[in-house]
Amino acid sequence: MDFRFDFAVDENENSEADGDFLLLYSPNHKQESREKSRETAGPAADCSPKLAAAEHRDEAASKKNLCVKAAKEHSIPEDLNKVLENKVMETVLDLSHVKLSVVEMTCSGDTDSEGIVSKSVSSHSDLIPGVYEGGLKIWECTFDLMDYFSEAGVEFTNKTVLDLGCGAGLLGIVALQGDAARVHFQDYNSTVIDEITLPNVVANCTGEGRRVGRGEDTKASQPPSKRPRKAQGSPDVLSRCRFFSGEWSQVSQLLLNSSQPCSKYDVILTSETIYNPDYYSALHDTLAQLLERNGRVYLASKVHYFGVGGGIYLFEKFIEEKNVFRTSVVKTIDQGLQRCIMEIAFKNSS
Ligand SMILES: C[S@@+](CC[C@H](N)C(=O)[O-])C[C@H]1O[C@@H](n2cnc3c(N)ncnc32)[C@H](O)[C@@H]1O
Repeated sequence: MDFRFDFAVDENENSEADGDFLLLYSPNHKQESREKSRETAGPAADCSPKLAAAEHRDEAASKKNLCVKAAKEHSIPEDLNKVLENKVMETVLDLSHVKLSVVEMTCSGDTDSEGIVSKSVSSHSDLIPGVYEGGLKIWECTFDLMDYFSEAGVEFTNKTVLDLGCGAGLLGIVALQGDAARVHFQDYNSTVIDEITLPNVVANCTGEGRRVGRGEDTKASQPPSKRPRKAQGSPDVLSRCRFFSGEWSQVSQLLLNSSQPCSKYDVILTSETIYNPDYYSALHDTLAQLLERNGRVYLASKVHYFGVGGGIYLFEKFIEEKNVFRTSVVKTIDQGLQRCIMEIAFKNSS
């Protein structure tokens, strides 16, 4: 599997016009948000994490004029076969997922109103800050976190779970298979939710090779299917799921003000979401607003994201300065780029 980590600056003048964006702060947003993107995308000056003061970053981010992608809830089509129409699936660790190269060839127009597939392909980039945040691919820390669930015996039974920055949604799917009471999936990009996350949930929880509960038999890993798959039954699993796209602060407002309000989450899973320090404030506040008082966040990340500047120590420092959560690095992975699993809980929690 290809894990490119390239970054690009959006050069599309109309980028806010083709997505659902909210403009915050100033009329000069376009120029300034481009400057922000350039700063973010520039090569890292050094490899050591810079421990800039969290408050200073907050202020700097709010002074910049941010284009914030509005949040929306995605409905689940009644005809589940439509969700898998034209999709080619592959299997990894017994989980089905949409084959990205086929999405890259077939997704355009209505199926990619954000234009992120073509932008990502044409710029050879896995991240275009503020436009495409990487959810089309499966990032390696997802697998680290899945390993950690097995090693540490993390339980999902009857838990309410949020897969934050879900991309392919494999973490949320594992929680569903572990009998979570509810699993909500969030990604920045609506194309990712419609073309990747939702099909993956349908393929794993309603189709062949599905595992919807711990008590059920599991099929052996299947070779990648070359044919589009048909979803079969079990929409009840989907009744435990909701899907959201948009920027974190917008999504948390949507969730908190929803006409179908939901209780806070017992578990928030998030993998490879702390690469960009400009987003730390929104991420921190979202965790603070949505986590149950005694809940846990499991965060998987590279130690440092070369080229964007974020990383585990910078985020740890940010959290420390906010004084809301306690953190503990529960696992370090040393193969290749160093990576970590961090557990986060409220300071006054049990
Ligand atoms: C690098 S991808 C990781 C995807 C997936 N978790 C994985 O490990 O394969 C980062 C994810 O974080 C989400 N994300 C990043 N910044 C965000 C922001 N400011 N608001 C909302 N979502 C954001 C994107 O939706 C994207 O899917």
